[in-house]
Amino acid sequence: MSRAIVPGPTYAEMRNPMLLPAAFRQRVIAARADETNPLNLFNINWKNTGEEVEKIVLPKELTGVQANIVVLSGRNFPSGSMKVGPAYATLAEHEALEGLRPGDRIVIGPSTGNFGIGTAYVSMLKGYKAIVVMPDNMSKERYERIRKYKGELDLTPGTESDVILTLERTHSEYVSKPDKYVTLAQFELLPNYRFHRHVTGKAALDAVKGIGNGRIAAFASAPGSAGTLAAGDAIKAVYPEAKIVALEPRECSTLYNGGQGQHRIEGIGDKMVTLIHNVFNTDLLMLIHDEDTVRGMEVIQSGTHVLVDRLGVPSDVACQLYGKFGPSCICNIIGAIKTAKYLGLGPEDNVVTIATDSYDRYPSVSEALYERNGGKPTDDQLEMWAKSVFLGATLGEIIDLNTGGHHERLQQMKLDLWTKFGYSPDFIQRMADQEFWDAEYEKIKEIDPLIAEARGSLP
Ligand SMILES: Cc1ncc(COP(=O)(O)O)c(C=O)c1O
Repeated sequence: MSRAIVPGPTYAEMRNPMLLPAAFRQRVIAARADETNPLNLFNINWKNTGEEVEKIVLPKELTGVQANIVVLSGRNFPSGSMKVGPAYATLAEHEALEGLRPGDRIVIGPSTGNFGIGTAYVSMLKGYKAIVVMPDNMSKERYERIRKYKGELDLTPGTESDVILTLERTHSEYVSKPDKYVTLAQFELLPNYRFHRHVTGKAALDAVKGIGNGRIAAFASAPGSAGTLAAGDAIKAVYPEAKIVALEPRECSTLYNGGQGQHRIEGIGDKMVTLIHNVFNTDLLMLIHDEDTVRGMEVIQSGTHVLVDRLGVPSDVACQLYGKFGPSCICNIIGAIKTAKYLGLGPEDNVVTIATDSYDRYPSVSEALYERNGGKPTDDQLEMWAKSVFLGATLGEIIDLNTGGHHERLQQMKLDLWTKFGYSPDFIQRMADQEFWDAEYEKIKEIDPLIAEARGSLP
């Protein structure tokens, strides 16, 4: 039986939570103490408890580049990762535009983890049953969180590189039965694009205020669904000269050269051009070695003293980094360093990147590293890793997508994949034009009043 909507924010309120009445926002912030409190839906924003975007400016002793590398920190979103944002936006659009109500249908979240965690979490708060479709070989912390948020699991074989199997299962088992299931299809539905262009894009623009020249020279992000990359479209709307940089695991270099291998960077490198990836607006593509991301994570996690004593990172700054990054965050950081080197950026320039989640879901990845390494790394090893992973990031394996027909090649890959899932060639062709993306983005103006109307007055 249908029940009333559990209220949540509009896109505008996620972009700027200060739009919420002050007394209500105080209640919302207090609700953080109990993550099962549905008021936490209003904590889906980059600003945590204040007005400032949560960010970390990396020390130059670690990056080795003059440019400022600014990392937006997604770990303070409810459920511990900013992927809860697109999950919420997609469900909220279903409620506002299609009349979905709690109890009507089961919510499906195809994912490799964080989107699934976000789906389970949002569904729990909003009163829906959720099933997360994901590979069976991801970090165990992910499954624990999904179960904690009362999500069920429908596991497909493999790892991050086998997401295509989850996509196939999602379509055959769930999308095909729309009367029973509502699928938050992150790889293909545009709320994911809208959330990141509107909310993450603005956070990136705000985060660099007062740093360097206050502008953004480049935005680097490793696509899973490629939702986060949409923040680049917001950045380019303000700074048209900015570069959008996509990063891929070297071991699964699908966009780079059709590579299809297994890799260790959970959350990214999903062996496909996703439908919502605005490929014609992506400027550079870089490969990152997966083991470097795990080693880099370990340096931050076990090597605070090494960073201080051997690299000269100020100790308060080194301590601030502790606990903040998982492998995909380190991938983004390495990509940002490569970007700064490749573009020859100086001390006034800013490169923005993203920490989608944090270390809390990767202790098991550290354990696996210790096994491969024959034990915990020594200080000498940690120093060597820090110097090779971060300071030693090289300029190899970079493609300028604006040349050589690469955009067209990626568009063709998109066409080949997504027509198999029922999208028309004509629809996909329209995605080659920026107008398509701008029109999708502009829909927020119509959607927001509908979200506000459907939720009624604030609780
Ligand atoms: C840990 C992690 N990093 C990066 C990403 C990639 O973000 P996006 O799907 O927005 O491209 C994801 C996506 O799930 C993720 O879980």
